[in-house]
Amino acid sequence: MNVADTEVIFSILAKAGFERTSTIEDADLIMANTCSIRDNAEQRIWGRLKQFSQQKKARKDVLVGIVGCMAERLKEKLLESGEVDIVAGPDAYRRLPELIAAVKPSSPQIDVLLSRDETYADITPVRTDTNGVSAFISIMRGCNNVCSYCVVPYTRGAERSRDPRTIVREACDVFSKGYKEVTLLGQNVDSYRFGDVTFADLLGMVADVDPSLRVRFSTSHPKDISDEVIAMMASRENICHHIHLPVQSGNNRILEKMRRRYTREWYLERIAAIRRAMPDCGITTDVIAGFCSETEEEHRDTLSLMDEVGFDWAFMFAYSERPGTLAARNYPDDVPPDVKTRRLNEIIDLQNRKSLECYRRDIGRKLRVLVEGPSKRDPSQLCGRAGSSKMCVFPAGGHKPGDYIDVIVRDCTSATLICDLTA
Ligand code: 5AD
Ligand code: SF4
Repeated sequence: MNVADTEVIFSILAKAGFERTSTIEDADLIMANTCSIRDNAEQRIWGRLKQFSQQKKARKDVLVGIVGCMAERLKEKLLESGEVDIVAGPDAYRRLPELIAAVKPSSPQIDVLLSRDETYADITPVRTDTNGVSAFISIMRGCNNVCSYCVVPYTRGAERSRDPRTIVREACDVFSKGYKEVTLLGQNVDSYRFGDVTFADLLGMVADVDPSLRVRFSTSHPKDISDEVIAMMASRENICHHIHLPVQSGNNRILEKMRRRYTREWYLERIAAIRRAMPDCGITTDVIAGFCSETEEEHRDTLSLMDEVGFDWAFMFAYSERPGTLAARNYPDDVPPDVKTRRLNEIIDLQNRKSLECYRRDIGRKLRVLVEGPSKRDPSQLCGRAGSSKMCVFPAGGHKPGDYIDVIVRDCTSATLICDLTA
């Protein structure tokens, strides 16, 4: 989401006459688009700010801006260090040129107003994907769910959906520029709604742009993912069979306390429905270890759910208390740090085993892959994703980014499929 937002910011600034530099030393304006989801994300930005201050010391006219969720959360507090000139929240990007122009030595500029309707629908993002293969398209902003641990509803505001006509137009535009894949982005794509248009309808509309444009999306919410969305995915060749479905916990008491508004049983039923419709569907998840008051037995429920589902892979986190959230206000962060870390490590160990099992099942299978570019490990090979989102590495064989090719899986690690080209 932040990459997509940064692409919007590049577009707004380019219109105002700014150019992107390739090194920080060449920049007159240095901006960081920030994340507040966990404390360590914010700590990284504090570290970056020190680096920016050095630039300011070396070159007096350099301006520093903090934008995005951390700007929204901390507001004026970011100005206290005297090192920040611009603070702009996620709905204030249109005003950036104005804010930048108004900065004076002792008058930093701040806009952290959240909007009910800003979707940046009319702004054509300046793409940062260097291969020109895969583009993000933001379809909605904000979130109305208020999961008790989560800061997003406070930093990104209320949910709003973007006009589907502007989404389809953007998909057509990137396709005409040679892109072969779009990822539709939203905090909770299943609650997308614009007039009568649902997320399932929108998926169909974007898939109709061209059969050779692959469509992905993220993120789904287990309480909202509908049979219509699953059926739409199953019915279209070019909608990738991959669903990121964050479970967070496998225990009903913890899920209730997290305000996720589904149960373990509901979640497992949704997984079954996905697999009935698409046996080859890649399913990935997010898990939080050590949420407030989580017992050892409740932690084991998370492990048993992960064992039962067998996710392709997962993003796994230790619970990080975020000031102002329902959990921070109502529940003590009482799982000791060493216990949280141990539980997280158990979760990671289990997932590594399950990923390896899942990837091994693909050995011998033929997969259709969209070539993205040179493999990071071995630049003489190419890499690209299968529909399930698994990363594949294979010999170049004269292929180039943007080609669709068929490969046969020969071997794997727990994160990569090692493939041969088909004859
Ligand atoms: N602590 C730890 N992980 C969190 N996430 C969101 N908020 C927190 C938090 N306070 C995780 C969830 C979510 C993902 C984007 O980040 O798993 O799905
Ligand atoms: Fe946060 Fe829950 Fe909204 Fe996801 S659905 S952004 S976890 S409040």
